[in-house]
Amino acid sequence: MSEIAEASHTCVLVTGGCGFIGSHTVVCLLQRGYEVVIVDDLSNANEKVLDRIDQIVGEDAAERLTFVRADVANKQALTAVFDEFDIKAVIHFAGFKAVGESVEKPIEYYSNNIGNTLALVDVMRNHDCKSIIFSSSATVYGDPDELPLTEESPKKPATNPYGWTKWMIEEMLRSLTIADPEWNVVLLRYFNPIGAHPSGLMGEDPKGIPNNLLPYVAQVAVGRRDCVHVFGNDYDTPDGTGVRDYIHVMDLAEGHAAALDWMAGRSGCEVFNLGTGNGTSVLEIIKAFSEACGKDLPYVVEPRRAGDVTANWADCTKARLELGWEAKYGIAEMCRDSWNWQSHNPNGYEE
Ligand code: UD1
Repeated sequence: MSEIAEASHTCVLVTGGCGFIGSHTVVCLLQRGYEVVIVDDLSNANEKVLDRIDQIVGEDAAERLTFVRADVANKQALTAVFDEFDIKAVIHFAGFKAVGESVEKPIEYYSNNIGNTLALVDVMRNHDCKSIIFSSSATVYGDPDELPLTEESPKKPATNPYGWTKWMIEEMLRSLTIADPEWNVVLLRYFNPIGAHPSGLMGEDPKGIPNNLLPYVAQVAVGRRDCVHVFGNDYDTPDGTGVRDYIHVMDLAEGHAAALDWMAGRSGCEVFNLGTGNGTSVLEIIKAFSEACGKDLPYVVEPRRAGDVTANWADCTKARLELGWEAKYGIAEMCRDSWNWQSHNPNGYEE
């Protein structure tokens, strides 16, 4: 059974806590009174995010945050963390996440994402910590037969190694709960996280050319890239471009805090979709971002991107009823906050 009690007495390990979703979640946890230990190897994150977290939460809350630079696959380092802190639950974000790169480097993706999860759960059980929230993805639904997607919708074969790692880690963690009923696993399937902290101090900072739509659009808006490339306008959607369920990263972060509260005293394996329930097309995003930044953003239409689905959006009823959570922000606020971050930090966390 979960040992998670009141936030003020609970220490949570956040792997990948310096990344985009991780850092926003750490802010929520600190603001709720949790003690937080981040383990991150900074392979795809910037240490400067830690100062930003401190600025947002203030001195008192910042004292409850510890950062350990380590690879989650490093069992020795993880063991030292579990020996030092009385960790009651883990939120596991750390992992490689670039779809295209995963096709080029499948071994690295399987080895890193699956290997670090195996190391983590092994060290967890050695320390009798059996509560974990895993960052899964709507990618496990593949090309859906029916919309909206509920947690009961079938998992479909992934179209790339990144997707397979999410798919397989879900099953690995589910197996744990079958073998040992004390495990308490929550699989959060994210739809498309965008936006930034409303302060403009934290946001998404991809290395190199962004793969995802929003950071690309934001970089066009700030003048780092010439124009948005729209991948296909011949889909069976109202304007022909792909439709996704974009969710504000702060809503997503709150979803993790709600899941943590919900886990207290439970065990087993539960899945929740975290989305808004609304679909938005690529062209609608470009329009909304143009309004947010006050200029028309240029775009060109290109062929479809391999592996992309036509449309997906979530049914979030389960999260609303069980977790008492629902997304609060709309597309206008997501674009506003993303622009606020990008315009104040044109090069992300780099000066
Ligand atoms: C992608 C991944 C998904 C992963 C998620 C993580 C693929 C096929 N899927 O989701 O597995 O969980 O990122 O954030 O990569 N688009 C453009 N121009 C661009 C970029 C994207 O038109 O420069 C379009 C896409 O075709 C899609 C929409 O924008 O219709 C959203 O794309 P993206 O932000 O990459 O997210 P997903 O593909 O939904």
